[in-house]
Amino acid sequence: MCKGQLLLLLLLLFCAAGPRIASAATNPQDAAALRSLMKKWKNVPSSWGKSNDPCAKWDGILCDGNGRVTSLNLFGMGMSGTLSDDIASLTELRILELSSNSLDGPLPAAIGKLVKLEYLALTNCGFSGPVPSELGNLSQLTFLALNTNKFTGSIPPSLGKLSNVTWMDLADNQLTGSVPTSRDNGTGLDQLVMAEHFHFNHNMLEGSIPEYLFSSTMRLRHILFDRNNFTGPIPASIGNIPSLEVLRLNNNGFMDKVPPLNNLTKLQVLMLSNNKLSGPIPNLTGMSMLENVDISNNSFDPSNIPSWITDLNGIRTITMQSVGLYGQLPQKLFSFPELENLVLSDNQLNGTLDMGNNISKQLGAVNIQNNKITSVTVYDSFSVKNLNLQGNPLCNGSLLSDTTPCTGQQTEAPPQIIFDAQCANPFIETIVFRAPSFDNVLEFLPQLEKNLSGQINNCTPNQLILMPYSNNEDAYLNVDIKACPVNQKKFTYSQVLNCFNLTVKTYKPPEIFGPYYVKAQHYPFHDKTSRAVLIGIVTGSVLLVVGLTLVGFYALRQKKRVQRLVSINNPFASWGSMEQDIGEAPKLKSARFFTLEELKFCTNDFREINAIGAGGYGRVYRGKLPDGMLVAIKRSKEGSMQGGLEFKTEIELLSRVHHKNLVGLVGFCFEKGEKMLVYEFIANGSLSEALYGMNGIHLDWRRRLKIALDSARGLAYLHDHANPPIIHRDVKSTNILLDEKLTAKVADFGLSLLVSDSEEGKLCTNVKGTLGYLDPEYYMTQQLTAKSDVYSFGVVLLELIVAKPPIHENKYIVREVKMALDMEDGTHCGLKDLMDPVLPKMGGLLGFPRLLKLALQCVEELANDRPSMNTIVREIELIMQDNGLTPDSMSASSSFSIESRTMKVPSKLPYSSASTSSTSFGMDSRAFEYSGVFPSSHGSLKP
Ligand SMILES: *[C@@H]1O[C@H](CO)[C@@H](O)[C@H](O)[C@H]1NC(C)=O
Ligand SMILES: *[C@@H]1O[C@H](CO)[C@@H](O)[C@H](O)[C@H]1NC(C)=O
Ligand SMILES: *[C@@H]1O[C@H](CO)[C@@H](O)[C@H](O)[C@H]1NC(C)=O
Ligand SMILES: *[C@@H]1O[C@H](CO)[C@@H](O)[C@H](O)[C@H]1NC(C)=O
Ligand SMILES: *[C@@H]1O[C@H](CO)[C@@H](O)[C@H](O)[C@H]1NC(C)=O
Repeated sequence: MCKGQLLLLLLLLFCAAGPRIASAATNPQDAAALRSLMKKWKNVPSSWGKSNDPCAKWDGILCDGNGRVTSLNLFGMGMSGTLSDDIASLTELRILELSSNSLDGPLPAAIGKLVKLEYLALTNCGFSGPVPSELGNLSQLTFLALNTNKFTGSIPPSLGKLSNVTWMDLADNQLTGSVPTSRDNGTGLDQLVMAEHFHFNHNMLEGSIPEYLFSSTMRLRHILFDRNNFTGPIPASIGNIPSLEVLRLNNNGFMDKVPPLNNLTKLQVLMLSNNKLSGPIPNLTGMSMLENVDISNNSFDPSNIPSWITDLNGIRTITMQSVGLYGQLPQKLFSFPELENLVLSDNQLNGTLDMGNNISKQLGAVNIQNNKITSVTVYDSFSVKNLNLQGNPLCNGSLLSDTTPCTGQQTEAPPQIIFDAQCANPFIETIVFRAPSFDNVLEFLPQLEKNLSGQINNCTPNQLILMPYSNNEDAYLNVDIKACPVNQKKFTYSQVLNCFNLTVKTYKPPEIFGPYYVKAQHYPFHDKTSRAVLIGIVTGSVLLVVGLTLVGFYALRQKKRVQRLVSINNPFASWGSMEQDIGEAPKLKSARFFTLEELKFCTNDFREINAIGAGGYGRVYRGKLPDGMLVAIKRSKEGSMQGGLEFKTEIELLSRVHHKNLVGLVGFCFEKGEKMLVYEFIANGSLSEALYGMNGIHLDWRRRLKIALDSARGLAYLHDHANPPIIHRDVKSTNILLDEKLTAKVADFGLSLLVSDSEEGKLCTNVKGTLGYLDPEYYMTQQLTAKSDVYSFGVVLLELIVAKPPIHENKYIVREVKMALDMEDGTHCGLKDLMDPVLPKMGGLLGFPRLLKLALQCVEELANDRPSMNTIVREIELIMQDNGLTPDSMSASSSFSIESRTMKVPSKLPYSSASTSSTSFGMDSRAFEYSGVFPSSHGSLKP
């Protein structure tokens, strides 16, 4: 270190620890106490014990002018051992913070002698035994956090004496017994009138909660009593705490009627789910701040949809599973501007599901499983990607039964780009948010990022990664923070203490995130040898990267290297280790074998957030291979019908198919009962997204011709050049993907069939495919031929012209176009009303009549009247050539535009850029959206 830097560092130290300069040498009694404490601890900071003056030299110590220790802060130092009685000698101590260490054993009663203590945080350690009642003597205490330990026994009534406490967190222990009150136990928690936080969640507390625990003079903001064993009624007094913002009583045994809560006008989060509550469902009138409500799984009286539901203007998430609701859902419910998630499964909702024409843009999931819905009406503005209607009468044996909402195949979770912070020694910690009011993490992550960077940036220029995930069981939101040291191998002790102890600094995340605590992982302060070679020097200019990463990056990477060696030697080592004998390993042309571990690694353990779509087969995840290649991974459902043999056939088939207009198979995984296919990832999403303006790409006519040609070439290859030939069976605009140069690639061979399996190219099968694209002849005869693909392709061509889904506002595109032409004597003028209105504005329509004619030939009633895919390719090529367009040399930039927001975002916020380019093997809801009004004349055609 050069002199200048040293000086700067000293200056920083002096500024950060002002009292030290003035201080006398450490008081000998305090120094001795620290040394005794140290004897019981392993892995103390390396500065400890080296000097006789802890006040001046030891990390984590602050002192007053008399050399008395006032603050002992060893957050996340990776220490183990026990806390000895010697702590009692530090009688001037005001702050004691030992969180996120491996300290265990009991908390000594002597801690009650630290009567000046204001701040006591011992979270995320291994402390066990009872919570000492002597804590009640710490009359100056304002902050008490003992959460995430192994404390047992009951809550000592003496804690009621801590009249200055604002934060009391005993969550996540094994506490039993009841909540003590002054009436029953002499002293009790009802006396804590300054408290803003009662966090007792995830213990084994029991008994009923007395009325007099709460009063209107209390200042409580957060009551977290969830996941205990409380019984009896919810005390009515809880409804009179005007300051309350979060009330979590879920997963207990509360019973009887819910008391009036309407006076809780500041309440944002209300969770009453999984209790034994009865009587009418709670009346939420007037609770205008509510953002997240869950009252599921209680025994409420069956009731009509309450009228107040349409007053919840700010609501983000409503979860009312199995609460006895019946009636028809009001349209207004779907129009609340913030609404993200609606779960109303297992009720008696009936009639038509009519979500109206003004659906919230945020709405990501609507789950109405197992109700009595008989029909559905949807509109143009319909943008719900996840509609679940399984178990409703409308799914029974109707045309809808094969559609996404009825089969439970979910579409797109928000896509996510994976970013790896590459450094050998990242500091990793988790912020646990125990009552977030929102569902769509990606929307709020930027706020958190901004907020955190303010907190962490002033310590060191850093590279920071945020990785959100949530645990379904407790509905808490975890955000992993991974920070890389800059221009140094590791963070120092003091950097960790100063940068990452978010609690001691009373870090305030954005309000909407709700109450939180922080858990740090052990940091390898002590490892002498660097854990791995530093890859990629992180420059100071990279301040923040928010995205996904993996915890334990290096450990996994090392492990994988070993596995790679094994798999080179015997790529099919695990082949045939399945329950059934499926013969020898598949013969592959170029597909690679991936281990389960590898694919877990590159999808972040198949985190929900990496899911980009789903099909009958299972789910599709986005992943990033170690070489940087983005892939889409199709993971088959557990117990999916496809057996090992079919899987083998499919990979053999797919590995043979190589064409620039087909989405290529990169590899597969067949291990531990998992069957996965790894495809190349296609960056610009599907044709349907582009056509319907969902991803900021505008397609002019020339580009549409090129896309028609590309996809026709892909299909022609499948029909005529693949050996054996392949019929796609599900040609549609969502299965045509656009790469970064907008070259079209045909995707999803999930329904493909080998033609050689059948006689004379005809297959008798169960009709599969997507409404609107289905060849009517195939539908009626169940005879599948390559011409069925031609029909579907013709529908896609029409879609390119009108830019509307094939079944739209009760109209079927094929019939509409034919009718328009009949009226106008075969000229294309009648099409004006149907045609995509942006097309004429975007330049010439060269070759338009010929393409239209071709499209109509493709959708001829009789298969024999339709051209072959090869003929179609030649015709489109001719159309382009005759109009001076060269089919094979269109650069991406020549004829399309991308809205600026798509271009701007990626450098800073990868998650938002990703959401504009969602992809890929989507089963889209579009196929379904309009099928509720599918012409009933097709009703006789049973799927
Ligand atoms: C509570 O704190 C105030 C100062 O904030 C102090 O004056 C008072 O003595 C404390 N109360 C108790 C009971 O110690
Ligand atoms: C508090 O009082 C209740 C009711 O009398 C009793 O059941 C409970 O054991 C007491 N709790 C403690 C910790 O003494
Ligand atoms: C909760 O109480 C029920 C009934 O009193 C009991 O069966 C159950 O074991 C208790 N659960 C816990 C975690 O203590
Ligand atoms: C709500 O608060 C008002 C005013 O404090 C009070 O008069 C009323 O009784 C309260 N309502 C309930 C249901 O507690
Ligand atoms: C809910 O409470 C409001 C105000 O307290 C009242 O006017 C309304 O009638 C109640 N609604 C139901 C369904 O009980």
